[in-house]
Amino acid sequence: MPKKSKRKKKRKKKKTKRHSQQKFSFTDMNADQLLNNSSSSSSTDRRLRILAKHLQSTSSSAMESNTVVSASPTSAAGSSVFAHIVQAPEDPILGVTVAYNKDPSPVKLNLGVGAYRTEEGKPLVLNVVRQAEQLLVNDSSRVKEYLPIVGLADFNKLSAKLILGADSPAVQDNRVTTVQCLSGTGSLRVGAEFLARHYHERTIYIPVPTWGNHPKVFTLAGLAVKSYRYYDPTTRGLNFQGLLEDLQSAPSGAIVLLHACAHNPTGVDPTPQQWEQIRQLMRSKALLPFFDSAYQGFASGSLDADAQSVRMFVADGGECLVAQSYAKNMGLYGERVGALSIVCRAADVASRVESQLKLVIRPMYSNPPIHGASIVATILKDRNMFHEWTLELKAMADRIISMRQQLFDALRARGTPGDWSHIIKQIGMFTFTGLNSEQVTFMRKEYHIYMTSDGRISMAGLSSRTVPHLTDAIHAAVTKVA
Ligand SMILES: Cc1ncc(COP(=O)(O)O)c(C=O)c1O
Repeated sequence: MPKKSKRKKKRKKKKTKRHSQQKFSFTDMNADQLLNNSSSSSSTDRRLRILAKHLQSTSSSAMESNTVVSASPTSAAGSSVFAHIVQAPEDPILGVTVAYNKDPSPVKLNLGVGAYRTEEGKPLVLNVVRQAEQLLVNDSSRVKEYLPIVGLADFNKLSAKLILGADSPAVQDNRVTTVQCLSGTGSLRVGAEFLARHYHERTIYIPVPTWGNHPKVFTLAGLAVKSYRYYDPTTRGLNFQGLLEDLQSAPSGAIVLLHACAHNPTGVDPTPQQWEQIRQLMRSKALLPFFDSAYQGFASGSLDADAQSVRMFVADGGECLVAQSYAKNMGLYGERVGALSIVCRAADVASRVESQLKLVIRPMYSNPPIHGASIVATILKDRNMFHEWTLELKAMADRIISMRQQLFDALRARGTPGDWSHIIKQIGMFTFTGLNSEQVTFMRKEYHIYMTSDGRISMAGLSSRTVPHLTDAIHAAVTKVA
């Protein structure tokens, strides 16, 4: 062997040794040491740094509570090895339901969680979902084997067509890879983990405000989270100028999280013209769009209209990611059905991307569950069932729109101070009322009405019967609490 290549080999061996030693010592390091040790910018180090920061905040709250971390044996005798664990706060959104469930009042009303309710205030299982389940139960050839890592093939193909359009050239050219994931949240997480491992710019810009889980999902996946202006509290509408300025000053290549429609929590979406300007700006700066589509069909009642923003970006031939959820639009909340699509420039790229997505998924949950995806695939591939779904979906969207009108009319008739027109201008499941946290607390205490502390109410949780109670509560809140 020539001397030069021998030296090269030796250097490589030394480097590998150093690397494995570094990895080994991770288990013995505390968060501070970890932060100081991972100063290089490799992808692994970045992920470690982000995790270290997270650990640091968790361990400092443990220290604040003055608890002693003791390593006692795991036998029945002695204190628990988990005795030092501090009580974590409730999730800000799901915690609303926890508080609601504890309230014995007969007039209590839960407007906190984004789940559809009927006029009678009951959860809804769509007829078409019941039909699909019946077909699945009656089919004795069906088995419960593991799905492939990427999920149910039919489901993936049909999900891509649903969001990108049945005649999407990107789908026809096999430039899209779609993997079944655990609802919208799981799709976002898998997409973010993939980007943290393989994409050159690991910063994601999210709107202010946004769904509360976004920053946590992205941070723990290994991305750095920054924000862009979105909502203007003075107009209760879009801060379009602020949005453009912030995206303009984002570094080239940065990832941008966009709500495909029915922005949560504000219910404020850009107009088609504004979307076009956003698209042009993002493409000119090579920003990578990551769409979160949790409400397709729920905003306007039309699956196609609610997918326009995504389709606009795909039509220009550029690349993007889309996380889809069937929680709201098919009422499959607890089935955890969703999909991640990555639209690539070419079929061979899409195929390599899919191979890497499998490496993300396999150690995370191995492969996705079969039942929910089978329901969705059964509905999407049958013309009649698909049609029935669109009718049921439209009925849900229409009931929400009618609740907006009823609440607006009731506040006007009551003479409640303020301009409440944003209630009918905003779209989707939520109204961002503009009520402050003191007013929210007042309404909870005095009227047993539950919502998130930012004043977001789920219109899907409201009915003609409960509008007067909510109107009374809002009226009292804005007249009595500053
Ligand atoms: C904007 C947004 N994204 C994603 C999700 C995730 O929902 P799921 O994981 O239940 O599909 C939600 C749910 O409320 C949401 O509002």
